[in-house]
Amino acid sequence: MSAVGIDAIEIWTGKLELDLPNTFAPAKNEDPEKYTKGLGLQTSSFPDTYEDIVTMGANAAKRLMDRKDLMPDDIGRIDVATESAFDNSKPVSTYIAGCLERVHDGDFHHANKGERKFACVSGTQSIDDAYNWIRAGRHRGRSALVIATDTALYARGDPGEATQGAGAVAMLISEDPSLVELSNEQGYGSADETDFLKPNQQFPSVDGKRSMQVYLARMREAVEDFESVAWDMQPEDFAYIPFHTPFPGMVRKAGLLGYRHTIRDTEVEDELAEQIGRQPREAEYDDWEAYEEAIRAYMDQLKDTDEYLDWYDRVIEPTLDISRRVGNWYTGSVHVARASALKHALETDRSLAGEKLLIGSYGSGAQAEIHAETVQDGWREEIEALSIDEQLERRYDISYEEYEKVHDAHNHDMDREVEEFTQPEGEFVHAGWGRMNERK
Ligand code: CAA
Repeated sequence: MSAVGIDAIEIWTGKLELDLPNTFAPAKNEDPEKYTKGLGLQTSSFPDTYEDIVTMGANAAKRLMDRKDLMPDDIGRIDVATESAFDNSKPVSTYIAGCLERVHDGDFHHANKGERKFACVSGTQSIDDAYNWIRAGRHRGRSALVIATDTALYARGDPGEATQGAGAVAMLISEDPSLVELSNEQGYGSADETDFLKPNQQFPSVDGKRSMQVYLARMREAVEDFESVAWDMQPEDFAYIPFHTPFPGMVRKAGLLGYRHTIRDTEVEDELAEQIGRQPREAEYDDWEAYEEAIRAYMDQLKDTDEYLDWYDRVIEPTLDISRRVGNWYTGSVHVARASALKHALETDRSLAGEKLLIGSYGSGAQAEIHAETVQDGWREEIEALSIDEQLERRYDISYEEYEKVHDAHNHDMDREVEEFTQPEGEFVHAGWGRMNERK
């Protein structure tokens, strides 16, 4: 069978922006550098009061269908990944399909629709489902539409408020993809965790510090599991490593973990041994805690080596450019990180076809997935077609008082009369729960 992977992507950002160091930090009486240096964020995207997960997802998908000249008949499956769903029965994909049917000839009666839930990792899981569906030969020549859409908002006063964001990523999964080919190489790390929960509530209950430890623990398990299928991995095997990015500071920690694993049993580890010794091996220790302590001490030295810093600048840093400007998009976040990396390659005129990416997805609750992808010949045209810079530039910069109003409106109170800050421009807008979203 021919290659299967991501053929095209489109990104839709919430149309408002909150300036974290200049607007949010002063209002919270905090040092702006906590945001810029600590968390690594400059601005977050917010949905205007007429935007929600349906409108953002439908707008991203419409743009993708228009650009690729697709009709509903070309799509056999629509999966939406979200952790901001408002309906426990009807999947968000049906709302989005309803929007798309109103602007395209034909309908999606033939398409299988679903909603995937496992916190932020469900965007990647939906891609896996689409890949398996095509590989199983059930697609009858059709493609799958995967839409990751979220309003990642936290209660006011919660530490998570610093890391909010909103937007959607639409991805077309097909045979002979133009962007990246997916492979069978995957690794998982999963455990029952309660660090981030949303049981029938709009804003999450989060143990923020613990959530960071859980992210790293599951990611480490996933990398170790991945090593069992990609045992001869070398640090230069991957052009970029996009990780789930709740905020760039989290990826600084994940990047070091990735590097430690990719250099294990390689010449790089041998060369570094002269400076900082070899990595501790589990078999050398009787007791797990002593082994963990030795790993921590090794990583502490590794993070300051020129070899690591140079690798981080080339392989990880470019994945964070968009995230710094949009905050956390939950299910879309790792796909924004991939887009950011490919955009960086385009802007630096890098030749990328045939090179590999290693994708580190993560969802609270908790599960990490590591998988490899190969960049395809058509990647340049696909990334050139993205309008993310224009979208980001056009966002309306809200004051702190306006932020409070928007935040209240999105607390499942969107049917209240609330001020709009931007004008819809030929896009789907929220028309009230249970009613069809309109196009204005
Ligand atoms: N100058 C420079 N750096 C500063 C600083 C300053 N003036 N002030 C603080 N910092 C640094 C801190 O040292 C810290 O960095 P390190 O972690 O490297 O030490 C960083 O800025 C953040 O500061 P705090 O730890 O004081 O921030 P906080 O306690 O207010 O909260 C948070 C941080 C726990 C991440 C919180 O924002 C949160 O709960 N976020 C939501 C949960 C989350 O995103 N978890 C991530 C893993 S789970 C996941 O990935 C799933 C998901 O999408 C939610």
